[in-house]
Amino acid sequence: MSFLRYKTHIEEGELVIAYLMPSHNGRGFMYLLHPTPELWTHVVPHRTQILYAADISYITTYLDLKPGSVVLESGTGSGSFSHSLARTIAPNGHLYTFEFHEERAKAVKQDFEEHGLSDLITIECRDVCKNGFGVTDLVHAVFLDLPAPWEAIPAAKEAFKQKRIGKISCFSPCIEQVQRTCASLNENGFVEIKMYECLMREHEIKTIPIYTVTDAVNKIKLQQDKKRKRKEDRDEQDNANADSQVSKSKQDPPNLYVSKTPNEVKGHTSYLTFATFLPVLEEQFLTK
Ligand SMILES: C[S@@+](CC[C@H](N)C(=O)[O-])C[C@H]1O[C@@H](n2cnc3c(N)ncnc32)[C@H](O)[C@@H]1O
Repeated sequence: MSFLRYKTHIEEGELVIAYLMPSHNGRGFMYLLHPTPELWTHVVPHRTQILYAADISYITTYLDLKPGSVVLESGTGSGSFSHSLARTIAPNGHLYTFEFHEERAKAVKQDFEEHGLSDLITIECRDVCKNGFGVTDLVHAVFLDLPAPWEAIPAAKEAFKQKRIGKISCFSPCIEQVQRTCASLNENGFVEIKMYECLMREHEIKTIPIYTVTDAVNKIKLQQDKKRKRKEDRDEQDNANADSQVSKSKQDPPNLYVSKTPNEVKGHTSYLTFATFLPVLEEQFLTK
């Protein structure tokens, strides 16, 4: 089954994503879903760390990717981002992706073939830091998810279409990597160098009781009473009596749904460094 074309019926042997849902009677449901890049990101065998939806969407937007874009990526890793890239640049764009780990390159190549993406993606097993990309004057955008992206930046510069503006993004978990990347981008003439961090914030849905003003005032009064009583060191029996009075006078208030967000946002994946490649001027181009 192709990730790019929908079908009305599933045929035997085709890839589907099984989604399980509990039901009230305890028997549950299973939905068989058409594979999409978002779903693949959830189920892809993790041969490496992978990119997730928040970073993927941010990078796709800032690299200005669209149908017809020609893109260079390294490392391919588990191919999570490559699947999204392929869908964005289809039907007439192309992705050149490079992975130096042989087994990983083979496995992800097989995924691309089985998912109907081979016409859009060329994968090569190559150490891009040592040997460059072997590509010149070809691509609109470059994405580097490598431990040392700065080593590949001079070669990435050569890969851009030399007469038009291009965009580069580097994905690095540590700030020291960002510093070295920025220095290299600057040395190689890239401009508009910016760094972002993309964090997901979950909203937890809770129910809270709605009190009328009278209810709230009574509640406060009761709490104050209890406090005073504790201070006066009344015996346990007195307290129990007071509590039973409280529960008798209390009516269950209606509930309100609210969403709660964590005070501290965890889940740092990586820093995203973006920069712009400026077109080479005509006279520079001729003297090359
Ligand atoms: C974190 S993974 C990339 C994950 C990928 N973005 C995804 O979403 O699935 C980084 C990959 O870069 C590869 N790599 C590291 N250095 C490389 C180099 N010099 N040339 C090519 N690939 C390299 C590693 O083998 C690894 O598979």
